[in-house]
Amino acid sequence: MFPVSQKNLVNEQSRQQIFGGEKVDVKKFIDQKVEEVKKTVGSERAISALSGGVDSSACTVLAHWAIGDSMKVVFIDDGLMREGEPQEVKKIFADLGIKVDIIHAQDDFFVALKEKIDPEEKRKAFRNTFYSVFKQAVLDSGARFLIQGTIAADIIETKGGVKTQHNILDQIGISAQEQYGYKLIEPLRDLFKHQVREVAKELGLPETIHQRMPFPGPGLATRVVGEVTPERVEVVRKATVIVEEEISGLKPFQAFAVLLSDKGTGIDEGKRLFGDIIIVRSVESRDAMTAEPTPIPWEILMTISRRMTKELPNVVRVAYEITPKPPATIEYI
Ligand code: XMP
Repeated sequence: MFPVSQKNLVNEQSRQQIFGGEKVDVKKFIDQKVEEVKKTVGSERAISALSGGVDSSACTVLAHWAIGDSMKVVFIDDGLMREGEPQEVKKIFADLGIKVDIIHAQDDFFVALKEKIDPEEKRKAFRNTFYSVFKQAVLDSGARFLIQGTIAADIIETKGGVKTQHNILDQIGISAQEQYGYKLIEPLRDLFKHQVREVAKELGLPETIHQRMPFPGPGLATRVVGEVTPERVEVVRKATVIVEEEISGLKPFQAFAVLLSDKGTGIDEGKRLFGDIIIVRSVESRDAMTAEPTPIPWEILMTISRRMTKELPNVVRVAYEITPKPPATIEYI
């Protein structure tokens, strides 16, 4: 049985006031959070941690409404993003009149992940690197706050012991102030994904953002089983493009490719090739707390398999995964 309940973690009183049950009063929510951010930051400065996902995008625009130029928006290029993501995010926010600074920190992340195999060790190495990179950015800009798009499911899964989500610190007793020298502001912490989408829409974010497939903070590292190296990430990045292109018409909640650490025998130009195995994962969900596999038509699966083995030189096998959550989780680590 799934060990955690959504109810325990969200402050019931504020939930009732704003949500009136399941439905969020989006305008009221935004007004309230804008006031809160304004009051908390006061005359100080803040940094917003933008990844381009719906959560951090909504959070960034909301905070921009609250404190405008007192906030610097930072996107960390960790080398674990999807194809073309940093440039795309910068462009979307430029169109919204919000400047984004990109920090190139690929080497920090690959060094931290080097030789790590254990999923939780990998997640913690990612988390520590993520907050350390921000520590420098915060120091450089004289900010005192880091604004981030943590949502209720992230808190529930980390506190419930399912897995260490990259953006949870204070809730599990790690003081951001003591460890990294800044305070965290998390305006979306009581919301679930479908509610964040409504808020993002109300904030004027384009559909490409408010309907965007969730993408985890630790990025493609959650989809590389075993050691995360630039070469292995590149395989999964290319495989992800194929999955997204072929499945996009079905509009799944989330669809992606995973690179296994096991290998399998295949044939390349008549010769044996002991190569990579890619798993295709696509799920339907509302809040990512539970999920069902997408019933993908056979022709689409076959196209994905053909393309992957043809376009990715070392891939010899492709499998479609059909496990719901629970018992599986959505991501592989
Ligand atoms: P799991 O794998 O726990 O994922 O079933 C549930 C949802 O959360 C996303 N996910 C993350 N998001 N930081 C994030 O911001 C993380 O560390 C993280 N790990 C998983 C995942 O993509 C899915 O939507």
